[in-house]
Amino acid sequence: MTARIIDGNALSARVRGEIAERATALTARGVQPCLAVILVGENPASAVYVRNKVSACEKAGIRSLRLDYPADVSPEVVMARLAELNADPSVHGILVQLPLPKQFDEAAVLEAISVTKDVDGFHAENVGRLSQNQEAFLPCTPHGVMKMFEAEGVDLAGVEAVVIGRSNIVGKPMAMLLTNAGATVTVCHSKTRDLNFHTRRADILVAAIGKPRFVTGDMVKPGATVIDVGINRLPDGKLCGDVDFESAKTVAGLITPVPGGVGPMTITMLLENTVISADRAARAAGK
Ligand code: GUN
Repeated sequence: MTARIIDGNALSARVRGEIAERATALTARGVQPCLAVILVGENPASAVYVRNKVSACEKAGIRSLRLDYPADVSPEVVMARLAELNADPSVHGILVQLPLPKQFDEAAVLEAISVTKDVDGFHAENVGRLSQNQEAFLPCTPHGVMKMFEAEGVDLAGVEAVVIGRSNIVGKPMAMLLTNAGATVTVCHSKTRDLNFHTRRADILVAAIGKPRFVTGDMVKPGATVIDVGINRLPDGKLCGDVDFESAKTVAGLITPVPGGVGPMTITMLLENTVISADRAARAAGK
């Protein structure tokens, strides 16, 4: 069997087209959606992500404010800027690129972002709302994965879903979204005893570990849907995922590639959250 490949680029292009139309309509009503992006320090991967986010905004007709700070900036300076952005009615989304340098208390920074502008969905209140299955800004990567399931007609009710990775950015919110959708969810991580036992019975397997080609074909249940959230750079400069695509695709029924799978969906959902926030602001202002 060879798995059907989920084309994240094509889905992303389609959704971004709809987002751009909504951004144009909002701008015509006098409210151009605007995303503020804060980058602290010179982490090369973060710099690439931020550049891609700003460029995607531009292409979708969303204004972006890019704010760069040196690695040794005092947290008070960034906190003061966040307070200004929270109070600025022309800004609809605020994102602080993670990780932050060690002088920062990351949780405190995320909670200093207004819940109504938290387009990354990392504020404790949005995380709590997600856990209670209430409306909330959803973290962009797991939300993008859910959008892929929807587009591909993957039924989630009653299926066995296994998420490898328990990060606040992907693993935990992914598990909550799958639970809310009716899947039976197992979260595996570095301390899990018999990982293969779990992965081999997964109808849906989400890999968010950060280890190149960690999930091999022998760990996959025949016909399973395999979602690869990993983006790893190999010594030769090429990108690869957490899944060994070549062996997994001979066993899986549906699989995402890297690059061109989940990656583009993350930024797409960030744009969508920004437009949703701008739309709420426009309605609140009677526009
Ligand atoms: N670092 C890695 N992924 C993300 C993300 O989705 N948002 C932010 N703000 N930082 C990240």
